[in-house]
Amino acid sequence: MNNAELKARKDAATPRGVGVTCDFFAERAENAELWDIEGRRFIDFASGIAVNNTGHRHPKIVAAIRAQLDRFTHTAYQVVPYASYVELAEKINRRAPGDAPKKTAFFTTGAEAVENAIKIARAATGRPGVIAFSGAFHGRTLMGMALTGKVAPYKVGFGPFPSDVFHAPFPNPLHGVTTEDSLRALDTLFKADVDPKRVAAIIFEPVQGEGGFYQAPADFVRALRQLCDQHGILMIADEVQTGFARTGKLFAMHHYDVAPDLMTMAKSLAGGMPLSGVVGRADIMDAPAPGGLGGTYAGNPLAVAAALAVLDIIDEEQLCERANRLGERLKTRLGDLQRSVPQIADVRGPGAMVAVEFCRPGTHEPDAEYTRRVQARALERGLLLLVCGVYSNVIRFLFPLTIQDAVFDEALGILDDVLKENHRAAA
Ligand SMILES: Cc1ncc(COP(=O)(O)O)c(C=O)c1O
Repeated sequence: MNNAELKARKDAATPRGVGVTCDFFAERAENAELWDIEGRRFIDFASGIAVNNTGHRHPKIVAAIRAQLDRFTHTAYQVVPYASYVELAEKINRRAPGDAPKKTAFFTTGAEAVENAIKIARAATGRPGVIAFSGAFHGRTLMGMALTGKVAPYKVGFGPFPSDVFHAPFPNPLHGVTTEDSLRALDTLFKADVDPKRVAAIIFEPVQGEGGFYQAPADFVRALRQLCDQHGILMIADEVQTGFARTGKLFAMHHYDVAPDLMTMAKSLAGGMPLSGVVGRADIMDAPAPGGLGGTYAGNPLAVAAALAVLDIIDEEQLCERANRLGERLKTRLGDLQRSVPQIADVRGPGAMVAVEFCRPGTHEPDAEYTRRVQARALERGLLLLVCGVYSNVIRFLFPLTIQDAVFDEALGILDDVLKENHRAAA
């Protein structure tokens, strides 16, 4: 079976709505490398969309899953609990931002974590409203879509969405939205659309992922905290994409001097196993009544075993420091390229949550076509890159933080070639 034959079977057997970036199929993967069913090798700068911060098949994660496989694979935690779930919750509670006592509940997907954070916030406040931001991505469930601030392709044709969800512009100085603009819009929202006393939560990504790797400015996050405290609103940080050393800290909220009330996590939490969680102030987390939270697979024991290994690996291999080092090298390289590639409008991102944004030379007009060409050409050269941004004009770099130096250098070389050659093609 080759890639073309399997693609024909895929197209016939699965719906187009499950959009797929690559036209080849995975055979095996190791750390930052992936091979397809025809034996071609790729350097994986997508990491399964920010899931493999600890690389593909880290030996410690494989060993932890194997050991758990030999004990039990599923009891449903809500029927027969197990110690590893409790141990993981204790570890997350200790390491999540903020000094207040905390509790954690586990789920399976990022969207499910978001859904549950909203449920918990509503139960704790007795209020219905939720405020999210333009450019946000919070998942593909109904509430996830309602909160998401990007219409195509996530919301098209899927409404109506849950009510009492409001959006404000996310600060984005590159595109003319300052912190003051965002705060003014929130003020207008409270006057024109919803009484702040009816708002349960404000949810935001410390660094917007799908939206384009825009980081929330420190003064904005501080102002949100004040606004939440003033009106009795809960602050939810969605760390599904930013968590687990990606930004150079265990959680991106560690970059700020204020803490959220609730925080969602998923993706790199369990190194490729499906696991998500909500951590938050213990009093808030205890608001829903027994039975109100959970799910058949929530906190699956294989995934929990993997997550315990992930936390150890992040510490032992100093992945926060490594994220900062690798991110700096990438940003320096892209910054140098900026001089010869006029389409590079911005290079940004904390730690290894790095992105490059492409605009038409000399303007701030997003250049999605150029971005698509860079992605396609890099893939031909064996480097797997992901596009993001409301205008699909941003390439985000999500390499495993465990990537070998030689493989990282090789990827930077490909990127260099592709950007220069694309510049010539576009000139
Ligand atoms: C910030 C954020 N929240 C929620 C989600 C949804 O996670 P999942 O796809 O696991 O449901 C994502 C996924 O990309 C995300 O980046």
